[in-house]
Amino acid sequence: MNTNSEYIDLHLHLDGAITVKIAKKLASLQGITLPAKDDGELNRMLSVPSDCASLNDFLSCFALPDSLMQTEEGLREAVRLVMDDALSQGVIYAELRFAPQLHTNGGMTQEQAVAAALDGLKNCRLKGNLILCCMRGKDTADKNLETLRLAKKYLVKDGGVVAIDLAGAEALYPTKDYKSLFMRAKEYGVPFTIHAGEADGAGSIRDAIEFGASRIGHGVRCYEDGELLKLVIDRGIPFEMCPTSNRQTHAVENMEDYPLTDYLEKGVKVTLNTDDPAIEKTTLEEEFRYMEKVFGLTEEQKKILQKNAADAAFTSDDVKAQLRKRLNL
Ligand code: ADE
Ligand code: ZN
Repeated sequence: MNTNSEYIDLHLHLDGAITVKIAKKLASLQGITLPAKDDGELNRMLSVPSDCASLNDFLSCFALPDSLMQTEEGLREAVRLVMDDALSQGVIYAELRFAPQLHTNGGMTQEQAVAAALDGLKNCRLKGNLILCCMRGKDTADKNLETLRLAKKYLVKDGGVVAIDLAGAEALYPTKDYKSLFMRAKEYGVPFTIHAGEADGAGSIRDAIEFGASRIGHGVRCYEDGELLKLVIDRGIPFEMCPTSNRQTHAVENMEDYPLTDYLEKGVKVTLNTDDPAIEKTTLEEEFRYMEKVFGLTEEQKKILQKNAADAAFTSDDVKAQLRKRLNL
């Protein structure tokens, strides 16, 4: 078996995975008129702008996909279609993340949103789990606590909600401001990953690790702090890196300095992921190819990335063993 044709995606946002085809299906299912005159325009609306200057610009792409997932039916179908899309691209296990609080504009409660997403997960063909995102923002504290409460209520080892995350504009709303949320997550025994070191510096990663994050979303800017890098290596904290997303959001000033292979060589438990494949116009296979072509990623390093992903997955030891076996790791 060619191990490169099958993948694990640990960092995949639902609203960043709504393709033109899925958007049209969701719109027609719910009788929604799309705000685009043709597929070309819709595609542009569902793409990172060519002049994207930062994560803040990048995040402006999510209003349209989120507007199509404000009913139980829309959200359930979106989860099913996105997971099946990933399966068709060689993904064999995915952790799909979404923020329940972004699906309440049409009257759904966060709990109804979680139930609808779970329904979609049950009805898709790809093996996977859900990560519930809390959001960085001005008025998100109560909503985040509700998301955490739901994660605790629905938490399973496999086949459902397995962790929480913190997503959104990292440079505007620093990780340190979310300490009490993650202290409570720890108290509740809810595992978490945190987007950190993507639009903010190494201090953000340090905060996330101090809170008790099991994994770090991106972690790109860890190189700014040598001691922190050593801590990450010593503790074996996995990084969920997403090269195309990191290039588009300018997580590093110059992509030539993108540290993924350097981190790998130093022993960081790096994993390779898509983040928002539809709006970035990528797949996990393309991410591997990109790393290979531009950064000389070797076959051995590809295997290490895949093994790190199997080891770092928020799933049972049984499923991890199955993934390692299937990928010949
Ligand atoms: N939501 C979707 N993609 C994201 C990213 N790359 N960083 C933070 N929040 C996000
Ligand atoms: Zn992300």
